[in-house]
Amino acid sequence: MLDIIQQLEDRRSEARLGGGETRIAAQHGKGKLTARERLDALLDTGSFEEYDTFKTHRCTDFGMETQRIPGDGVVTGWGTIEGRPVYVFSQDFTVFGGSLSETHAEKICKIMDLAVQNGVPLIGLNDSGGARIQEGVASLGGYAEVFWRNVQASGVIPQISVIMGPCAGGAVYSPAMTDFVYMVRDTSYMFVTGPDVVKTVTGEVVTAEELGGAGTHSKKSSVADGAFENDVEALAEMRRLFAFLPLSSRETPPVYETFDDPARIEPSLDTLVPNNPNKPYDMGELIEKLADEGDVLEIQKDFAPNIVTAFVRLNGSSVGVVANQPMVLAGCLDIDAARKAARFVRFCDAFNIPILTLVDVPGFLPGVSQELGGIIKHGAKLLFAYAEATVPKVTVITRKAYGGAYDVMASKHIRADVNYAWPSAQIAVMGAKGASEIIHRKDAGDADRLAQHTKEYEDRFTNPFIAAQRGFIDEVIMPHSTRRRIIRAFEMLKTKSVATPRRKHDNIPL
Ligand code: HXC
Repeated sequence: MLDIIQQLEDRRSEARLGGGETRIAAQHGKGKLTARERLDALLDTGSFEEYDTFKTHRCTDFGMETQRIPGDGVVTGWGTIEGRPVYVFSQDFTVFGGSLSETHAEKICKIMDLAVQNGVPLIGLNDSGGARIQEGVASLGGYAEVFWRNVQASGVIPQISVIMGPCAGGAVYSPAMTDFVYMVRDTSYMFVTGPDVVKTVTGEVVTAEELGGAGTHSKKSSVADGAFENDVEALAEMRRLFAFLPLSSRETPPVYETFDDPARIEPSLDTLVPNNPNKPYDMGELIEKLADEGDVLEIQKDFAPNIVTAFVRLNGSSVGVVANQPMVLAGCLDIDAARKAARFVRFCDAFNIPILTLVDVPGFLPGVSQELGGIIKHGAKLLFAYAEATVPKVTVITRKAYGGAYDVMASKHIRADVNYAWPSAQIAVMGAKGASEIIHRKDAGDADRLAQHTKEYEDRFTNPFIAAQRGFIDEVIMPHSTRRRIIRAFEMLKTKSVATPRRKHDNIPL
């Protein structure tokens, strides 16, 4: 029996070596951890339970029958993060470049099925050269099986991807259908076709970094939700993100003990909004001052910074924050901001995370490129997302809420539950000057009269009280008491229940 046990131990040691020491050294040489080291960094110590350690591919073409490595380039199983379960797969670049064979796909599919069945999130650590070229269509079929499961699991369990090496071809589409994508700077890439193919087909010369690096995807394409310096930082941030999320759509997010007083008064907020309505201020400061212990996890920080999407905790409970940022484009809504915020709102709604909306928005960004780019359709995404969301929604207007953007940013009319405004709020169809120039066009040449009209418009509309008189604003609140008011509002909304229309699914403008 001891011999048999020793044989198992030897087989395990062989499997743990993956593609062998030389390739592991090469992996380290690139500043990357191995698949197993990554799992050690992601999961609680000693919590990993591996499945299919000894599974190998069945390919007999191109001499593959002599190259069978236990595990076939992906380590799969489950473990815990701060004691909460998670299914994981970690691709091993030292084995056939982490490429996806039919059996590699079967391993991933097995844990995806278990994750959905057990209502537990899935985290994929991706480091793969794409479809296993030697296997042809068997490999493509394997990818499609993974894709299909990604779609079935969407909105059921959180699915998260960390891109930690090259992800070429099919390797990008599974992450693209997950809820969050984190990337590592300088060592990870995502593209459907790499620089060489691009050069051949279009003649464009581009580096891998420019085409699909972490900077490109976190700033320009919005494929990635975050970019991090190295594997260790990316995995530590993934643990932090995981702590905000529920295990599945059947559950609510975990509640953490907080030492921050839910009734904390923040006097500095009374002077956050400058007297001059055209002067920006940092909405990030408000979010930090509202959050438990000032802890804010931003999603897509570097993309469309005119809107902030972030997770915070309020009295220990997860809340998704959507906030206009007056420091960038005066906080206008544009195509990118609308897309970014809409996806975030939909994630929160799918996973029972209440939404706090902080509004200071002068409107939609005017411009030919915006109109030709489809701001109508993309702006509608955000409107749609807010209107369909049934999680508790609390809105605070700090300053401007103009025009269509007033409606879109979780207004009462699209069924926010509690709408507060600061005394500095200005709720109007547009700014006073622009409005006066339109309704008093006959006085266009008379600067004094126009100034008088502007003043009249300001006196009438640049305050929250007209909206409050109609009940569109539930209460005008003191800025310093905002944390206490919103925490109490969310407490009150914990038992919210709404019926939704019977249908197969909605048809959000894509
Ligand atoms: C089989 C692969 C492989 C693949 C890499 N390898 N990609 N084996 N299938 N797709 C192997 C290499 O042969 C090599 O083996 C080892 O992995 C390491 O690869 P290197 O090229 O030495 O590493 P590096 O220089 O870091 O380059 C990594 C790479 C490159 C950028 C990923 O290997 C590459 O371009 N691979 C091919 C990418 C690709 O075209 N994939 C198919 C996409 S089509 P040895 O034994 O020499 O060490 C696709 C369709 C799916 O995915 C569509 C679904 C919608």
